[in-house]
Amino acid sequence: MRVLVTGGAGYIGSHTVKLLGEQGYEVLTYDNLSTGHDWAVLYGDLVVGDLADKELLRKVFSEFKPDAVVHFAAYIVVPESVREPLKYYRNNVVNTINLLEVVEEFGVDKFIFSSSAAVYGIPDEVPVSEEAPLRPINPYGETKATVERILRDIKNSGKGMRFVSLRYFNVAGADPEGKIGFAYPNPTHLIIRAVKTAKGEYDRLEIYGTDYPTPDGTCIRDYIHVVDLSQAHIDALRYLQEGGESDVFNCGYGHGYSVKEVVEAVKRVTGVDFEVVEAPRREGDPPALVADNKKIKRVLRWEPKFDDLDFIIKTAWEWELKFSAQNQRL
Ligand code: UFG
Repeated sequence: MRVLVTGGAGYIGSHTVKLLGEQGYEVLTYDNLSTGHDWAVLYGDLVVGDLADKELLRKVFSEFKPDAVVHFAAYIVVPESVREPLKYYRNNVVNTINLLEVVEEFGVDKFIFSSSAAVYGIPDEVPVSEEAPLRPINPYGETKATVERILRDIKNSGKGMRFVSLRYFNVAGADPEGKIGFAYPNPTHLIIRAVKTAKGEYDRLEIYGTDYPTPDGTCIRDYIHVVDLSQAHIDALRYLQEGGESDVFNCGYGHGYSVKEVVEAVKRVTGVDFEVVEAPRREGDPPALVADNKKIKRVLRWEPKFDDLDFIIKTAWEWELKFSAQNQRL
């Protein structure tokens, strides 16, 4: 199968390109390198281009002739989306419409979309199932929910395109072989911040809120290893290839850890006792967000291999040490 991967030079995209390559798929990455890196694309060619450029997209589709598209390319920083909503709607929604128009023009009938648990906002029940209402609480989540609705409407139009939307929970960790990992400037994510603090890049780690209605007062999240998440995309491709219907799936392990538990685990795995300070709540953080993952296991036959917080942190830590060493050499 020939798979076009938008955003294939980014964090989750590059791990998925690696798995696709290893599992015998023909892959082509389309990425504007705004946050991705050419060195992260380990299989297939890289076309440096923007989704705003429909002519280039058409050229790529006519030459590569993809059987399926896996669409990662998007902006992902929640606080930035609050400050710059138009930037997020333009890239995450308008540019996705460009891509979908070309997908339709070329009759590509399989589309995998990177959605997010952010579409749920603050869910009434945890673990949250795919049936829960979409009530995003920030522009980033709105853009993901909007694209999910666009995909549903395209499916209902009867034009033949089928899609799978994967709603990611908290993605973390890195390629266990150490070839690729998270490599964006100014990360805000907990595990990355914590391993960078352990490395000495930050003086201390702040815990945003210790008065939540959770057992230790800090927020609970469902942390999923990036390679298990990448495999879910391949399982979704196989599902569509076998004739599966368009559908939406949560991607998480179905259990969570509090911020304090994650911080303790990072100290344990890295062997570094860094400074931690309690800070006020961060706006828009739901107290607990954990996936009900029964559907993806049953329908996509997804079998996670790395459901182990210490392993997630270990791979993130090893990558962090290696990546900073690489950067110093450049
Ligand atoms: N946190 C800290 N200190 C930090 C960083 C984070 O205490 O330095 C806390 C946050 O307040 C939150 C938890 O750690 O309670 C996890 O925060 P992250 O920023 O790592 O992740 P989020 O849960 O906020 O968001 C992530 C993705 C979003 C996605 C969302 C959906 O970043 O893109 O998951 O679950 F929408």
